[in-house]
Amino acid sequence: ASFHWSWGPKGVQHWSKSYPFCGGVFQSPIDLQTPLLQYDPSLVPIEVHNYDLLAHEQLTLGNSGHAGEQSMYILGLPNRYSAVELHVHWGSPNTPAGSEHTIDGKRFAAELHVVHFNSKKYSNVSVAADKSDGLAVLAVLIEVRSDGGLFTIDQKVQVPAFNIRHLLPLRLDQYYRYDGSLTTPPCYPSVLWTVFRNPITISHTQVLCLQGAEREPIPVPLDGNYRTPQSTDQRVILVSFREGELGAAI
Ligand SMILES: *[C@@H]1O[C@H](CO)[C@@H](O)[C@H](O)[C@H]1NC(C)=O
Ligand SMILES: [Zn+2]
Repeated sequence: ASFHWSWGPKGVQHWSKSYPFCGGVFQSPIDLQTPLLQYDPSLVPIEVHNYDLLAHEQLTLGNSGHAGEQSMYILGLPNRYSAVELHVHWGSPNTPAGSEHTIDGKRFAAELHVVHFNSKKYSNVSVAADKSDGLAVLAVLIEVRSDGGLFTIDQKVQVPAFNIRHLLPLRLDQYYRYDGSLTTPPCYPSVLWTVFRNPITISHTQVLCLQGAEREPIPVPLDGNYRTPQSTDQRVILVSFREGELGAAI
């Protein structure tokens, strides 16, 4: 589909005309509301493998669809999932908070998505994308600390090598889990979501570096590049931690 879609209030309302799933059920993101949470003791800590390598190398490997020994993959989910892409949703100087998932209505500065496909069952991400057990996304909420620089979203920056493991919170055992969708067209309801409970804090400069590492950057409009929370459609949100249990100190 080469239909040109865009973010912002005007763009989003047209998604479902060309991509019917965008107007369907079990869409993402959602607001992670306390009354919908259900503790599930079977949710084991997420294990990441080969994340200690450089983002641009690993994601290029991943795009070839080969789930070899060197590929980044995660365990702790019902299948083995291999990483294929990472990208960030953020706001803009006009709307500085641009995370997609919100927690009890609180929107964070930005949100990192590491997209994986079920490499045990499917040969590549294209085949997996519209299957109900096809995709898994690790989502990290991001808080941004000022480092003195001006935050200009269209600034060209050099992309330094960075270690993807450092973009995940320390605690991989505390997370929200639910069945949802891609948050951009075609919005397939094929994503097993893991949203880590603890946000990471990075500098504005690091936000720009993340943006530069994206494979196919889409121009970010002034309103940001995030989708607003969708209907929960009677879904429950499983959590791996008990209410009242402390999050990480950092
Ligand atoms: C994905 O796999 C399918 C089936 O094996 C194949 O037909 C298709 O060309 C592959 N796509 C890419 C992008 O590798
Ligand atoms: Zn995303």
